[in-house]
Amino acid sequence: MDSIIVRGGAELRGQIPIAGAKNACLALMPATLLSEEPLTLTNAPRLSDICTMTQLLESLGAEVSSMQGGKVIAMSTHDLGSTRADYEIVRKMRASNLVLGPLLARAHEAVVSLPGGCAIGARPMDIHIEALEALGAQIELKDGYLHAVARGGLKGGRVKLRFASVGATENVLMAATLAKGTTLIENAAREPEIVDLARCLRAMGAQIEGEGSSTIEVQGVDRLHGATHQVVTDRIELGTYMLAPAFTGGEVECLGGKLELIGAFVEKLDMAGIDVTETEAGLKVKLRGDRPRAVDVITEPFPGFPTDLQAQMMAMLCTAQGTSRLEEKIFENRFMHAPELVRMGARIEVHGGHATVTGVDKLKGAQVMATDLRASVSLILAGLAAEGETVVNRVYHLDRGYEHVEDKLGAVGARIERVSA
Ligand code: EPU
Repeated sequence: MDSIIVRGGAELRGQIPIAGAKNACLALMPATLLSEEPLTLTNAPRLSDICTMTQLLESLGAEVSSMQGGKVIAMSTHDLGSTRADYEIVRKMRASNLVLGPLLARAHEAVVSLPGGCAIGARPMDIHIEALEALGAQIELKDGYLHAVARGGLKGGRVKLRFASVGATENVLMAATLAKGTTLIENAAREPEIVDLARCLRAMGAQIEGEGSSTIEVQGVDRLHGATHQVVTDRIELGTYMLAPAFTGGEVECLGGKLELIGAFVEKLDMAGIDVTETEAGLKVKLRGDRPRAVDVITEPFPGFPTDLQAQMMAMLCTAQGTSRLEEKIFENRFMHAPELVRMGARIEVHGGHATVTGVDKLKGAQVMATDLRASVSLILAGLAAEGETVVNRVYHLDRGYEHVEDKLGAVGARIERVSA
């Protein structure tokens, strides 16, 4: 398995291009199952999770081809060959569950393996199930699979989500596009990836209003047609690279970055002494003094501070002046990077969903283990600031969500390389 070696201390200067959003693309791709006509996505990221989704869609009868080195994904599902999402693929990635809504909508049945527990929390499917049941689906759990049927097709209805789950909103939104009548999704997730999905579905002929707010209204239509859609910028990759100059000094411009994607995060950067300015091409970031300052962070659904940037922010706060408090409110076990950062000399105490970080003058290079996607990249960022060499092992998680991380950071001056075992 590959490792990434980072030699700390190099100032960063230059531009980093930000890719299309992984989490938008993983929701957009299953939309191909809703139509017989082709759906093409541009600005797609080149990631192993996208390959996993491709494999899953192909197993259901979609034809998927990638062009321009993976930046364009052309999909067509003229006929559904199967309505069964197999454990062997689903177990690799939780987002596989996003085929459930589209399959139910188009074929009125689906058998989808439960994704299983993921390291960052239990992540059950109950909110997805309740939402689809509100549209008339009957769903049973047998042998580790969800068996779902909607005899006579889905019917529009009122869906009140107990929690504004991103995945449940996406599943029910896709399902509602082909349901008979009107669906009202209340307490819907408001993430930019939901807005992107709604835009794509509308380009396919769906009738949707209110995306980006807590109430989404969908008027079901008989069929959806083909479309071409550009995937929104990855706000998590953006935030990750925006943090880099706070570790190293220098100035980085993140190409394609937009403030509206990342407002709550930018507010915290400002409080930490990091300047963000909008440019024509994106967002430019620079540390004001010698060292960032401590800030308190609570993760929340959008427009709050994203859980997917908590690990990277914690790594930055390890070198800040003062003591910061972090509260993780989305996932119950998302501080696995903390013990690894401690190996690098960080001072962190974790109690349940709360962590206290007291900044130190210098982190020290060490051998560390990447436990999940965002944890992996937080260790690379910490390595940029550390004295000596940091070896981040087990980086396959990283390749699920960051394309060419060593090239992107290397191009702005980081001393970073990938070694294959
Ligand atoms: N939840 C339930 N029941 C459900 C669904 C969710 O209890 O039926 C709970 C989860 O266990 C979790 C919380 O609700 O505690 C939030 O889960 P949500 O459904 O909103 O998350 P998700 O759709 O599974 C997406 C992203 C995650 C990101 C979260 C939160 C994708 C493919 N994944 O997951 O991304 O952290 O929203 O913003 O869109 C990542 O990219 O590293 C990542 C984990």
